[in-house]
Amino acid sequence: MTPDKNVIAAELERSRARTALLTDAVDDDDLVQQHSPLMSPLVWDLAHVGNQEELWLVRDVGGREPVRQDIDHLYDAFKHARRDRPALPLLDPAEARRYIAQVRDKALDVLDRVRLDERPLVAGGFAFGMIVQHEQQHDETMLATHQLRAGEPVLTAAPPPPGDRRVRGEALIPGGPFTMGTDTDPWALDNERPAHVVDLPAFLIDVAPVTNAGYAAFIDAGGYDDPRWWSAKGWAHRQEAGLTAPLHWFPDGGAWLYRRFGRVSPLIPDEPVVHVCFHEAEAYAKWAGKRLPTEAEWEKAARWDPETGRSRRYPWGDDPPGPQHANLGQRHLAPAPVGAYPAGASPLGVHQLIGDVWEWTSTDWHGYPGFRVFPYAEYSEVFFGGDYKVLRGGSFGTDAAACRGTFRNWDHPVRRQIFSGFRCVRELA
Ligand SMILES: [Fe+2]
Repeated sequence: MTPDKNVIAAELERSRARTALLTDAVDDDDLVQQHSPLMSPLVWDLAHVGNQEELWLVRDVGGREPVRQDIDHLYDAFKHARRDRPALPLLDPAEARRYIAQVRDKALDVLDRVRLDERPLVAGGFAFGMIVQHEQQHDETMLATHQLRAGEPVLTAAPPPPGDRRVRGEALIPGGPFTMGTDTDPWALDNERPAHVVDLPAFLIDVAPVTNAGYAAFIDAGGYDDPRWWSAKGWAHRQEAGLTAPLHWFPDGGAWLYRRFGRVSPLIPDEPVVHVCFHEAEAYAKWAGKRLPTEAEWEKAARWDPETGRSRRYPWGDDPPGPQHANLGQRHLAPAPVGAYPAGASPLGVHQLIGDVWEWTSTDWHGYPGFRVFPYAEYSEVFFGGDYKVLRGGSFGTDAAACRGTFRNWDHPVRRQIFSGFRCVRELA
C-alpha cells in the first residue's frame, strides 16, 4: 500500500509545522545557545533537517543541482559531536529558515514529478517517509532540548486524559513463536526488517510502565545506596554520576517535585516515570524481583494476536494511532497516567506500550538476521555492536509517523535526557 502523494505532502507539512512550533517558541539568542552539552543548539537541528531533505529528496531522488553544498559538512552529524556544534559557522536563524523553506519547495516539486514505483528508494514513498520520520525524530530531540532549557516556560499543551486504577498487575504472554519485524510496512526503516520468527517461553509482563509512585518506593527503600540491585557497570555509573533520583526530580521536604518544560510541580503518582537511564531501570527491576524485558518480549507483548497468531502493526490493531489509542506527537507535554488509553491495549491486556515513555529493554542494539543496509549504513548499521540498549514504543514526544510496533530506537545506557521509562517482566513461577 503506497501512501498517495497528497498524504506524503501532508506528512511533510505536519513535520514542518512541528519544527516551526518548537523553534518559533524561543528567540534567536535562545536558538543559537547550547542548553546542554548533550544537545545541539536548536538552530543546528533546524538547518540539519533541511540539509538531510536536500541530500535525499532534492539531490538523490530529484537529481537536482545542490542548493547549498557548501554547508553539508556543518550539518553532517558524524563530522561534529553535539558539544562542538555551537562553535561551527552555522546558518543563523533567519538563514536557516530561508534555507529549509527553499529546500522544501524543491522537494515538493520533486514529489510532484517522481514516479513512486521507479526504484527501491522511492517505492511506497519510502525516501519521503524517511525524511518525514527524520524531521519528527529531530523534533523529539528538540523537545528534549526544551526540557533541558532553563528559563520561563514557552510550550503549552492540554493535560493528558485521566488514568484508571484498575489497570495494574501483570499479563501472561503464552510461550511459542511470533513474527518479529516487518517486510511490508512501506516506511519501516532497514533495522525493522526483515520479518522473522522468534520463539519465546511464556512470561509475565507489567500491564503498564513503572510509575512515579513505584519508582519513589525504590528510592525510599534505599535503592540508590544498595549495590545489590545494580550491575557492576550500573553501580560504577551511579557512583560516578552521583545519581539519586530521575533527572529533573528535586526533593522537597519528604516529597518529590519535578521540573517539566520550565514548570515545577509535585510528582503525579500514577504517571509513568520518565528520564531514567538503563542502569536505573535495571536496578529497579532487580529490586522488584523482576527484570527488564528483552526486545523480543516487548514486541511479542505489543503485536502478537493470540486469536490469529498474526503480528499486528500496533497493540490495538492495524489502524494508525488516534488520540484514543496512545499519547503521541507532543499532543500533551507529559506521559499520561496508567490506564488512560484502554482503547490502545493489546489483546492480552497490556497497556500504553505505544506512546507515553520510551521503554528500555535489556537487548543490545543489533541487526536482525538477514539485515540489509537500506539506504545508508549511517542510519543504523554503524551503531550495531556499540554500547547501546534498545528502547521501544515511543514517548509523548514521538510522532505517529515515527512510531510503530516494529519501530526500534537505541541509546547509551547512561542517557536520560530522553523521554525514557520502562516496565518489567518475570518468568512464570
Ligand atoms: Fe539527523
